[in-house]
Amino acid sequence: MPEPLPNILLVDDEDALRSVVAERLRDQGFELVEARSGEEALALLQGFAFDVIVSDLRLPGIDGRQVIDEALERYPGIVAIVVTGYATVKDAVDIIKRGAADFVAKPFQFDELMHVITSALEQRRLKDENAYLRQQLDQRYGLGAMVGKSAPMRELYQLIDMVAPTTATVLIAGETGTGKEMVARAIHQSSLRRQHRFVAINCSAIPEPLLEAELFGHVRGAFTGAVGSRQGRLEQADRGTLFLDEIGTMPASLQMKLLRVLQEREFERIGDSRTVKVDVRVVAATNADLPRMVKEGRFREDLFYRLNVVAMQLPPLRERVEDIPLLVARFIDTLQPREDGREPIVVSQDAMRRLMADQWPGNVRQLQNVIERALALGGGRRSIEVEDLPPELRDEPSPMTAIPPLAEAGVDLPRLVGELERHLIGQALARTAGNRGAAARLLGLKRTTLVEKIKRL
Ligand SMILES: Nc1ncnc2c1ncn2[C@@H]1O[C@H](COP(=O)(O)OP(=O)(O)OP(=O)(O)O)[C@@H](O)[C@H]1O
Ligand SMILES: [Mg+2]
Repeated sequence: MPEPLPNILLVDDEDALRSVVAERLRDQGFELVEARSGEEALALLQGFAFDVIVSDLRLPGIDGRQVIDEALERYPGIVAIVVTGYATVKDAVDIIKRGAADFVAKPFQFDELMHVITSALEQRRLKDENAYLRQQLDQRYGLGAMVGKSAPMRELYQLIDMVAPTTATVLIAGETGTGKEMVARAIHQSSLRRQHRFVAINCSAIPEPLLEAELFGHVRGAFTGAVGSRQGRLEQADRGTLFLDEIGTMPASLQMKLLRVLQEREFERIGDSRTVKVDVRVVAATNADLPRMVKEGRFREDLFYRLNVVAMQLPPLRERVEDIPLLVARFIDTLQPREDGREPIVVSQDAMRRLMADQWPGNVRQLQNVIERALALGGGRRSIEVEDLPPELRDEPSPMTAIPPLAEAGVDLPRLVGELERHLIGQALARTAGNRGAAARLLGLKRTTLVEKIKRL
């Protein structure tokens, strides 16, 4: 189906000029409606969503500025083009600042107007496309990218949803590899700030003097080696989100400066006396115990409270083992996208059981590494087996060590076995927060078998 022709509203009080332009635009294939005055244009705008409005700036009565303002207000996506006399080009620029797409100065050649209209329409198309790309980014970085259905993860999603649209500072705490950066990105992507930048800086990866320059920027000659002026990350993140990773390692002098930014939303570049104002949302992350560092005097208490407005504690993977099969499936999918006609790669029951056992302290990142390694070792096999796992996951500790030797008087074997079952099933259910499917996988049972056993016991 061909794209519908753009509709243009042409506003000009000079009849002769307007009808000539109108005719030529119609020749080019546009649908066109003419208005002789601002009043007439406003009335037409009320009834119809034009794609483009071309309006003379100077009109008797309601002038072009008001018409354009009203059009933009009512239809934010409209392409507004101002026609102006040379004397009033400055006014046209003003209107562009308020949202108009472009202008042409009288007298103009028709081709010039045509060019302005078509390139403005192209611009708008690109903008729509960006919106589409952004939506895809949402899937890659937003909540949609996060895997996990366990209770702690569901609580986390709710919290993210709730605080993302606000400007509240967020402090994300969690062991290494639990997904802190992923959550920070999800907060950014779920906020209106997503149209601006997400700027990340790892405080532990950069030595102290450089870290200050990275954050605040500097002017030329501010210190040895400062050959040019440079914008800091704070300025880059203006209207967006600044992610301060490993905030616990930030040196004391910088903690103080950061505090001021959080309190006053302003700072100076190094070597500069001018104050820069920024609108940033700060999200910080740490795998250190910040409250303890505060008690020990290693982290500023006032800064901690400024950062910790919203606290998010990411659960370690061992507290949500029921999410492991979902994560594994996601990693296989992203690392080895499904090819047409080939069977999907599966994980053997035995291997999955090892992954879900807690003899191993890894988190999401480590799990991802394990899967990556297994896929590489599997060399095109369509399944991941125990022998594809790293050694620390491969050996199953013998359950026999805990069993006492057969007593002189013998044992009540059915009772003993029953107790063992009850004990292990209880543990599996506790660890999976009652998720029977996940518990069954941990025990190497079918779900139905487990359900039966639970009933019997
Ligand atoms: N819930 C999740 N769903 C899917 N992938 C996840 C999830 N959490 C983390 N990941 C993935 O695990 C890896 C580690 O996550 P991330 O870098 O966010 O963790 P981190 O807590 O910042 O780790 P570190 O302390 O090592 O910096 C990333 O590749 C990320 O995509
Ligand atoms: Mg990280």
